[in-house]
Amino acid sequence: MNGLFVATPSPALVEMVGAAGYDVAILDAEHALVSPDTLQEMIRAAEVSGVAPWVRVPEHDPGFVLRVLDAGATGIVVPHVRCRADVEAVVRAARYAPEGLRSLNSGRMVGHGRTELATHVAQANRRVSVVAMIEDAEALEVIDEIVTTPGLDMVLEGAADLSQSLGVPWQTRHPHVRAAVDQVHAACARHGVRFCAIPRVPADHARWQARGVTDVVLGEERSLAVRAFRSRVSEIPGYCREFRSHAQVIADAVDGPEPVCLFSYDLRALQEHAKAVVAALPDRCRMFYAVKANSDERVVAALDGIVAGFEVASGGELRVVGDAAPDASVLMGGPVPTDTELAAGVAAGVTRFHVESALGLHRLSDAATAAGTTAEVLLRVNLAGPFPAATIAMAGRPTQFGIDESALPEAIAAVADLPGVRLAGFHLHSLSNNLDPATHLTMLGHYRDAVLAWEERFGVRAEVVNVGGGIGVDYAALDTPFDWPAFCRGLHDLLSTFPTHWREVDFECGRFLVARCGVYAAEVLDVKHIHGQAHALVRGGNHHFRLPSSWAHSHPFHVVPADAWPAGRPRPEVAGEEVTICGELCTPKDTLARAPVERLRAGDVVVFEAAGAYGWDISHHDFLRHPHPERVFLAPEDG
Ligand SMILES: Cc1ncc(COP(=O)(O)O)c(C=O)c1O
Repeated sequence: MNGLFVATPSPALVEMVGAAGYDVAILDAEHALVSPDTLQEMIRAAEVSGVAPWVRVPEHDPGFVLRVLDAGATGIVVPHVRCRADVEAVVRAARYAPEGLRSLNSGRMVGHGRTELATHVAQANRRVSVVAMIEDAEALEVIDEIVTTPGLDMVLEGAADLSQSLGVPWQTRHPHVRAAVDQVHAACARHGVRFCAIPRVPADHARWQARGVTDVVLGEERSLAVRAFRSRVSEIPGYCREFRSHAQVIADAVDGPEPVCLFSYDLRALQEHAKAVVAALPDRCRMFYAVKANSDERVVAALDGIVAGFEVASGGELRVVGDAAPDASVLMGGPVPTDTELAAGVAAGVTRFHVESALGLHRLSDAATAAGTTAEVLLRVNLAGPFPAATIAMAGRPTQFGIDESALPEAIAAVADLPGVRLAGFHLHSLSNNLDPATHLTMLGHYRDAVLAWEERFGVRAEVVNVGGGIGVDYAALDTPFDWPAFCRGLHDLLSTFPTHWREVDFECGRFLVARCGVYAAEVLDVKHIHGQAHALVRGGNHHFRLPSSWAHSHPFHVVPADAWPAGRPRPEVAGEEVTICGELCTPKDTLARAPVERLRAGDVVVFEAAGAYGWDISHHDFLRHPHPERVFLAPEDG
């Protein structure tokens, strides 16, 4: 059975839910102020469109139960069931004798006289489902008594209210909430009662399906509708009323009172790119977003629901994801997380932790045991190379990252001994900005061989292998992107050589997902020749956009000419020669690019492309105390 909560008081909407192929529409009279007349029409609409009308009734109102059943509802969903007596009261109101004491009357449920009363009574007692929602801590204490109440047909989880009742409001993935929902499911399984889950992220579906749960409520129509409306309007350029382009943002800023200095991020383009990246991935592979590349909440929110979840490397990033994508699956790593950060990760229900040392395992185990849970762990290993040439190498040489292969036996022993951790596999992130699909695939083949050898040597089995990020962006040739489709075709073949018990191969990409969605625009404040070389100085620089100096490269840019210039002032320019674009800091390291330009004048705007990843996020914002750039996030709802 698949169901949907329907809270909008609209018969037409119920009809659409039926047309969309749902089995059950749960008409919400607990949270929604729906009038009796409208509710009756909604029930009719459900009948017409072939979806079963169940009603979530207000708490403790047997009279309401009777009226909605007489109106034609075929299921009663009872919120906040706390004890057996709560269910008994509803069964009494919902079933005729001998199973209950439902009052009998004529009306539409007997076809206004066309159905014999005796036939109706027998049919109704069979047809009406009584569903109890478990959303209070008290209910857990008497869960066996509740689920065995005669006349109860199904139990529906209520993780959101349950989280509040358990003292961790709205943390539906908190281990205590998960354990409570599991407890409810286990009681149902023990007593042969149907259990209905409310999966919140894709991983939840797999988890429930693996346990044989096939009854699910797939959310509520209002949020689904808003998402669908938003994605429709955002996928067709030119139709979105409020959508601006980078060019418009820059043009607006040129007209403003202060020199232009801004980042503009196109969230719609980001979503389209991420969807295409995810769609090309072979089965078994999941794409997580490495939040460090751009940790703005709006970026995280835009990717929520497209990527499989988020990789965080600090307590701060964990909080960002908690706020921006509270139901998303989270992988938590970081070179050296503290006890407090790990405790926060455990409390937030992190899906897997990537651990980089034996001491790190002890810290995590302590955090998990203190919370009464077990943390799933991938051991991050700093493999011996050789690795493909890339801009930054995290492994294959002496760095602070991961566990040295020689220390792996100690880590494997620790993970086996410690009570709060369970080994789920291995994590291998070795480099950043690889531009070549073929060498990336070769590296993944190297990973496969290493993990297979460890399984053999240590007698362990990996369920998940995380191959990190590192897919590159060629800043010197932005029109030749990393050939992701070709990479995915090769990956598909490579996966056939991976053992089937590696159920998941995770990627956690940062740069490749977000780099191209952003630009950094900075107005030229002055142009001069020093020792024979042209220099253009902009409002902004390294303290906003450190990537070019960090990588010692000339960042690609284009010039947006600005016509306005104050009368009577000289307007210096450079034309037809190479210019160094410099920032406003007092250091020669504050250079962003060096390239020939046709013409660049004071007052023009230099727009640096592909500035969405590791731009603002890696920069030292307050050096020299210049103002921060404006940061504009272009989304359909952006004003
Ligand atoms: C552990 C880990 N995973 C993923 C990433 C993301 O890498 P990239 O942005 O190159 O995809 C990084 C970046 O440093 C990282 O350290």
